[in-house]
Amino acid sequence: MIHELTATPVAPSGPVDTSPIALTPAAGLDLDPVWRSVVPETRARSNDIHLPISLAYAERLCRAYPEANAELVRVSILLHDTGWGRVDEDRIISEGFTGDWRKAEIRFEHERQGCLIAREVLPPLGYTEEFVAAVCAIIDGHDTRKEAHSLEDALVRDADRLWRFDHAGIALASGWFGLDPATYCDRLAREIVPELLTEAAIAMANADLTRSNRLLKTDVLREETP
Ligand SMILES: [Fe+2]
Ligand SMILES: [Fe+2]
Repeated sequence: MIHELTATPVAPSGPVDTSPIALTPAAGLDLDPVWRSVVPETRARSNDIHLPISLAYAERLCRAYPEANAELVRVSILLHDTGWGRVDEDRIISEGFTGDWRKAEIRFEHERQGCLIAREVLPPLGYTEEFVAAVCAIIDGHDTRKEAHSLEDALVRDADRLWRFDHAGIALASGWFGLDPATYCDRLAREIVPELLTEAAIAMANADLTRSNRLLKTDVLREETP
């Protein structure tokens, strides 16, 4: 069951937790078989940090939007970037983070590979064809498509962005983009917060960003502006 996306940002119908994400790791063991089947793919592009943290955010978002299909959101976020594990490593940084990186061919490629991986690993674990198709519909275009097609799609997209506001995400992603942490935090506030599709995610992002800016002392550890 997939839910229509109403006007964005979507107002929450459940509790919104803005505490540090380390306090609420992903719960339950039901997805462990899925994790085990993609261990090699988690070794690419720090997916072994990004995917578990984003799953924890996704579960929080599902508590804020209890009407969403939580299993679909959780499995989709877990698998969404595994495709990076099957593309040429050197091209990830050279094409994936420079120039017009949102439109780089390698981005389309990691989405296609992610769908192939979902089709490989989910059916043997007992997931239905209909469920796998819904997962692939979310993975396909998660980086390159502008709009979300459903509430579940919107929650995956927000969870994919939220991990960057935690200090672990800032540590990794600022390096990918070749930016110092302070400049990267500025960019999160300016470019990523406006892309969020749910009110809950906006509240979480702002709370994390305030904490991370303080923790990393970005008010003083920044380039002098001429
Ligand atoms: Fe991605
Ligand atoms: Fe991602």
